[in-house]
Amino acid sequence: MQENYIELVKKINNGKLLTYSILTFGCQLNENDSEKIAGMLEEMGYIKIDDYKSADLVVFNTCCVRENAEEKLFGKIGEIKKIKENREVLLAIGGCMMQEEKMLKKIKTSYPFVNVIFGTHTLQNLPEDIYKAVSKNQKVKDVIDIDGEIYEDLPIKRESNFKASVTIMYGCNNFCSYCIVPYVRGRERSRKPEKILEEIKDLAKKGYKEITLLGQNVNSYKGNEKIKNFADLLDEVCKIDGIEKVDFISPHPKDFTDDVIDVIAKNEKISRIIHLPLQSGNTKVLKEMNRKYTKEQFLELAQKMKSKINGLVLSTDIIVGFPGETDEEFEDTLDVVRKINFEQIFMFIYSKRDGTVAAKRDDQVPEEIKHKRFDKLKELYESKVDENNERYIGTIQKVLIEGESKNNENTYTARTNTNKVVIFDKTQKHNIGDIVDLKITESHKWYLKGEIL
Ligand code: SAH
Ligand code: SF4
Ligand code: F3S
Repeated sequence: MQENYIELVKKINNGKLLTYSILTFGCQLNENDSEKIAGMLEEMGYIKIDDYKSADLVVFNTCCVRENAEEKLFGKIGEIKKIKENREVLLAIGGCMMQEEKMLKKIKTSYPFVNVIFGTHTLQNLPEDIYKAVSKNQKVKDVIDIDGEIYEDLPIKRESNFKASVTIMYGCNNFCSYCIVPYVRGRERSRKPEKILEEIKDLAKKGYKEITLLGQNVNSYKGNEKIKNFADLLDEVCKIDGIEKVDFISPHPKDFTDDVIDVIAKNEKISRIIHLPLQSGNTKVLKEMNRKYTKEQFLELAQKMKSKINGLVLSTDIIVGFPGETDEEFEDTLDVVRKINFEQIFMFIYSKRDGTVAAKRDDQVPEEIKHKRFDKLKELYESKVDENNERYIGTIQKVLIEGESKNNENTYTARTNTNKVVIFDKTQKHNIGDIVDLKITESHKWYLKGEIL
């Protein structure tokens, strides 16, 4: 069905050398969706360019997890409006924000020049939407608020030739009280294990070496009789020849069962940095966030993981200023950070999201207090960075060469199995995509230096 529309658009575009550009906001799931959008557009004959201001077709793939995303999007739409005054540009806006009724209304009334609006459940209809917009000059709105089916085998244009993300499940059932994601992505739906493994085997054949399994709650993945759960799936992925590195994001601490820990412990291919989102270190706040673990349970889990998995470090997400959070409760978050010594912390100021349980509370924390807490957490985290980095000096790290360094064409860049950036001198013998052993020689705040052995 969609193939027909792809052919029809291709015919209309024939010989015109039309270009497209996608701007992706948000998480890796959105980035993966953008790769699918790119795949469909290329089949329709559009050619990719980076500069969205020069493109004939512009796609904004939106995120709404925090409020500042909205202002950013409106700014970008304004830019395209100006360009549209001088030449023809097709503007398509999709992603999570379009699943919010208020935003959808706002886009339709305030920005009537937007050609196509699509949601997270209707991505696969894009060829049809684009066809209607280019051939009939229709304004297309293609958003549904029921959980979309899982569409397999969509064309995909990946950003990298050796690293690939593979979505294993869609949606989220957790309803953390601050979070909009379950409302815009729907309920949890797992892909069939055979389909996932087929995709990864195919990637391995094409020379891909690094796989990241994606989902809002990967460890609540549900398979079938043979590959029952996330532990089984992870184990199977590690067995695929040619795949050298396996990573996943995001797991939920409440679902981090022993079988998953055991699979990670025995498979060296699996990344030695695991993202374990804490959100808050205080048991009362955690309960109000609906996270389903206590401070003590989180600490115990982290301890157990570190003791069972050789060389493991942890990264985390933390929200400061959740409604009702007191200074004392925030101290618990700092306490956990001190105890666990996270390798990486993604810090967020609580942002009120309409429709969520926490947004209805009348004990919102004043902005200046939220900012003070944010600065305090940042200071604590940064004070640990040097110490953490120095531990790497003298170690040997097996890495995949990712590319040339941004500001020095004589050096390559790679990441350790704990996701630290390493810079090292190029040699004649090695190319991008190769796996090499590096000895770490220096540590800096945001990167390490190494030498090829
Ligand atoms: N499913 C993933 C993450 C989803 S969103 C998980 O559970 O880990 C990524 C991060 O954004 C969350 O971990 C949380 O720290 C942050 N976040 C989500 N909603 C937020 C809000 N309303 N305000 C501030 N940060 C938020
Ligand atoms: Fe949001 Fe919680 Fe689901 Fe993560 S687990 S997407 S934070 S509701
Ligand atoms: Fe944002 Fe949607 Fe991801 S809201 S964080 S892009 S699932």
